[in-house]
Amino acid sequence: MTISDAVFTRTSCRAYLPHSLSPAQRQRLGKAIAQCNHRAGLRVRLICGHPEPFSVFPRAAGRIRGAQDYLLLAGPAEDPNLEEKCGYFGEELVLTAQAMGLSTCWVGGTYDRSLCLSHLEPGEELVCVAAIGDPAPAEKKERSRRAPAELAPDCENSPAWFQAGIAAVRQAPSAMNRQGYCFSLRPDGSVRARLSGTGSFALLDLGIAKRHFELGAHGGEWTWGDGGVFRKAREEKSCGAVVWHMEAGQRQYLLVRHNGGHWSFPKGHVEDGETEEATAAREILEETGLAAEIHTDFRRQVTYSPKPGTIKDVIFFTAVPTGGRERPQESEISQLGWFSFPDAAERITYATDEEILLAAEAYLNSQ
Ligand SMILES: Cc1cc2nc3c(=O)[nH]c(=O)nc-3n(C[C@H](O)[C@H](O)[C@H](O)COP(=O)(O)O)c2cc1C
Repeated sequence: MTISDAVFTRTSCRAYLPHSLSPAQRQRLGKAIAQCNHRAGLRVRLICGHPEPFSVFPRAAGRIRGAQDYLLLAGPAEDPNLEEKCGYFGEELVLTAQAMGLSTCWVGGTYDRSLCLSHLEPGEELVCVAAIGDPAPAEKKERSRRAPAELAPDCENSPAWFQAGIAAVRQAPSAMNRQGYCFSLRPDGSVRARLSGTGSFALLDLGIAKRHFELGAHGGEWTWGDGGVFRKAREEKSCGAVVWHMEAGQRQYLLVRHNGGHWSFPKGHVEDGETEEATAAREILEETGLAAEIHTDFRRQVTYSPKPGTIKDVIFFTAVPTGGRERPQESEISQLGWFSFPDAAERITYATDEEILLAAEAYLNSQ
C-alpha cells in the first residue's frame, strides 16, 4: 500500500493491543522520521514503551487505550511555521504507519503533555503527539465528512487533478473533526488554501490538509501559512527492479549506491516508446553491467519528489540476473553489492524502498 492509498483507508484508532512496535517496524518508521526531520528541520521522535501520557484520561471521551508508543511532534520553538509543518510532515508519518499496517490517532488534548516534555531538548517545542500501534478489535465508526463544495466552492467545474486533491482533503483528520479550511483554484492554475475558522490546531489541520491535497493531486509544492499557494508538479516516470539470486541456499538482493549517497535498487527514466519492462532491463544493465530477466507479476509503485516542482513515479518489478559482468556505471553508481534480506532492509536508505523490499520478499516466499 502506498501513502496515497492510505489516505482512503485510514481512520483514527483509539484502542490498541498492549504491545510495542517490533524492531523492524521501528527501523522503517525511523527512516521516514529521519527524512522528515531532515527536510523540515523538525525534531520528531518515536517514543516506545511509554503508555503513561495516555493513562491519565481513564474516563474521558476520546481516551486512548493500550497504546505503548507514540510520535512526539516537536521542533525548534523559533520556527514560525512549526505547527503547520508538524501537521504536514506528521501526516506523512501517520500515513506511512498506515501503509505499514499500523493504526494511529493524532492526540492534541486527551494526553498528559507534561509527561512528554522530558523528551525535548532546550529550545524545542512540543506541538502534539500521535499514538501508534496495532489496533485492538473495535467497532468501526462512520465519520461525517464535509462536502467537496464546502471545502472548495467551485470544485465541480475544476480539472480532475484539483477534484482529486479535494477528494483527498475530505479524508484529512482534524482536531474535533473541524476541517476549518477552504481551497480555491486560481486563474493561473495555482491553488490557494485559506483557514475558514480559528481555534487550537487550526494551522496543524491546515498542514495535514495540504499534504492530503498534494497526494490527491499527484504532486506539487505548497508555500507555508494561511493563504499558502500550491503549484502542480511536473510528472516523471522511472522503472527498475528488485534483483535477486540464490547463494548457498539464501536469497541475496542487489542494491546500488547512487552517487547521491543513498542505497536503493537499480532504476531509471523511461525513454520514448519504451515499455516499463524494457526500461527496467536497460537500467539494470547500464547501472550494474548485469543482464536480467524481468518478472512483471510483481509490480509495485513508489512516488516521491526528487526535487522541488517534480514528482516521480517509480515502478519496481522483480528480476533475476542472466549474464553480464558486475560493473557499476561510473556516472551514477558508486557501489553495488548483494545482501541478505535483513542486511538489505537495514542498508536501504528510504522507508519507501524498504517497503518494496519487504513486499518482494513476501511475494518470492509465496512462490
Ligand atoms: C491536531 C489534532 C488533534 C487531535 N486531538 C485528539 C485528541 O486529543 N483526542 C482524540 O481522541 N482525538 C484527537 N484527534 C483526532 C480527531 O478527533 C480525528 O482525526 C477526527 O475526528 C477525524 O476522524 P478520523 O481521523 O477517524 O478521520 C485529533 C486530531 C488532530 C488532527
